[in-house]
Amino acid sequence: MDDTVILSGTASNGIAEGVSHFLKLPLIKIESKLLPDGESYIRIPKDLSGKKIILVQSTYPPQDKHLIELFLLLDAAKSFNPKNLILVIPYLAYARQNQRFNEGEPISVEAILKLIRSMGVNSLITVEPHRLESLEAFEGNSLIIDPIAAFAKAIGKEFKNSVILAPDHGAIKRAEKLASLLKTDHTSLNKERDKKSGEVTLAEGNEYDFKGRDVVIIDDIVSTGGTVVKAAEFAKKNNAGKISVIAAHLIMADGCYQRLKDAGVSSIIGSNTVENTRARIIDLSEVIAEGVSSVLKTSD
Ligand code: R5P
Repeated sequence: MDDTVILSGTASNGIAEGVSHFLKLPLIKIESKLLPDGESYIRIPKDLSGKKIILVQSTYPPQDKHLIELFLLLDAAKSFNPKNLILVIPYLAYARQNQRFNEGEPISVEAILKLIRSMGVNSLITVEPHRLESLEAFEGNSLIIDPIAAFAKAIGKEFKNSVILAPDHGAIKRAEKLASLLKTDHTSLNKERDKKSGEVTLAEGNEYDFKGRDVVIIDDIVSTGGTVVKAAEFAKKNNAGKISVIAAHLIMADGCYQRLKDAGVSSIIGSNTVENTRARIIDLSEVIAEGVSSVLKTSD
């Protein structure tokens, strides 16, 4: 793989370094600064002509800035006419706007994936993009990294007797998988979200007695915390012991941390797809590096 380099974007959060370490590939760091008028400036300081470029750029908050920087990076990378351009985008912003919930809305995730493809990306690798089908809008190779095995490996011993709780239907498969890896039980809730206000409520008929057992709420994203708070309140009301939360992408918008604490969540676990200083972070570099390696093999 002499002709392959890892390019670390403005929002790699250690993943470019990790992938470079696990795959023993050279790491190129870009130059970047904010111009006086607020625009982003980036530059790739090395000639990468004819190389296979693996660009790592996440799109965690500020999402729009990191997306613009991604497009600038792709344009700069293309100027070297790379043999292959692989994009690792650990957290894919806008993945939850995957349909027109209300008339006149965009399908944001599709718009972004089409733009990325139009900028010459051959293969795209991302972690848990909310709905796996969304990646179909990207007309190149794509690979989705499932973080659950890495989570189970990191937290397995502490949580093996816990009940894994999916806060809504979308999270059932995640809860099933984590529970099966930890050899424990799981259950799920019915959640409703108001399409206009975004307010979360639990549907009628949710029942489960946790009988004092610890609970791990699993989701893909924690954003306002509304979903997790409802699940934590349900767990507390139904005799849960310690309540923890695990999610691939801990966006945790303003006030979320306190909302989770107030709801009785004692431990918050996530990954380095997103910058977060208030949670326990599990490094996904190794599992992402495995994904990069498999994409490199199939694209040779
Ligand atoms: C929704 O279907 C997602 O899987 C998450 O549950 C949701 O986006 C979390 O957002 P919030 O923290 O704002 O409730």
